[in-house]
Amino acid sequence: MKIYLNEFIHPDAASHLRSQAEVVTNFDHIEELDGIIVRGTQVTGEMIRAAKNLKVIGRHGIAMNIIDLDAARECGVRVLNTPRTNANSVAEYIVGCFLAMSRHFYECNVKLRRGAFTRIAPPDLLGSDVSGKTVGLVGMGNISQLVAKIMRNAFDCEICGYDPFVDNERAAALGFKKYERLEDLLEVSDLVNISVPLSKGTVGLVSGDMFRHFKPGAILVNAARGQIVNEDGLYCALTEGPLKAAAFDTFAVEPLPKDSKLLTLENFSATPHIGGNTEEALYRTGIAVVDNVINVIKGQPADGIIV
Ligand SMILES: NC(=O)c1ccc[n+]([C@@H]2O[C@H](COP(=O)([O-])OP(=O)(O)OC[C@H]3O[C@@H](n4cnc5c(N)ncnc54)[C@H](O)[C@@H]3O)[C@@H](O)[C@H]2O)c1
Repeated sequence: MKIYLNEFIHPDAASHLRSQAEVVTNFDHIEELDGIIVRGTQVTGEMIRAAKNLKVIGRHGIAMNIIDLDAARECGVRVLNTPRTNANSVAEYIVGCFLAMSRHFYECNVKLRRGAFTRIAPPDLLGSDVSGKTVGLVGMGNISQLVAKIMRNAFDCEICGYDPFVDNERAAALGFKKYERLEDLLEVSDLVNISVPLSKGTVGLVSGDMFRHFKPGAILVNAARGQIVNEDGLYCALTEGPLKAAAFDTFAVEPLPKDSKLLTLENFSATPHIGGNTEEALYRTGIAVVDNVINVIKGQPADGIIV
């Protein structure tokens, strides 16, 4: 069997693939491919229609906007992703941000390095505990459920959620206090995290007047997708309130350009989309995408099927 792969995946997963299939690194003979594995490479309708032998496209990761799903459906090609394989790593990143921003880690580092302190424990950098706080989770999917588990078990936090696709019974079973309106969730939450997919319904979910609904002094974390939060509005909310601090891993343009005005703020932490970038997540994701693509080609059950 011939499988296209031309991006970095965990070396063990790449060896696992090579031990079972011929790996092709270009689309010169696309009509011969049985499978395609991508991380960021676009798979267009034109490519799918030309790949007459293609059975499956595997997305290393979650977001499916790089693959023409309609064309895949039309051509009877299965498409799958790797749900849950990096959720734990992203959840740990989010919890790390809650702690770091509550205690001004980033601002302390910046100021200490430029010799800004004349005393220890500066009063203007008084932090706050995360213990016992109210955590507001936008989206109640895999990542949010893991964040909820850590924040509840480790820090005795109250867990609230907003997710129109999760019914009251399921929310209660997951231990979330469910809010029907995002505004209401923001008004009660000390620590807010966004973990929803980018879609027509989530572009600009937090923009304009929505910023006014954050509790004064709240901390906002976004490791989902940049377009979900308006960056100009975020800048205002961080400089004029109500936000105390924010930590973002994803931006409308990535990596975040160095002239972004957000980077001038010491109450803002920016990382270059590293939420799922751990050894463990890379390994789990690589093995999952290889196993599932090969299973589909062999006609065996596979996980993460979208189409
Ligand atoms: N920073 C990173 O490295 C990284 C890594 C993995 C995932 N992500 C992002 O995190 C997102 C969430 O991942 P997940 O594994 O938790 O996904 P998931 O599919 O398990 O959960 C997403 C949840 O969002 C909910 N949702 C959809 N539209 C909504 C809306 N308009 N309002 C509120 N809730 C809504 C869904 O019902 C679902 O429960 C991904 O789509 C991806 O964009 C980022």
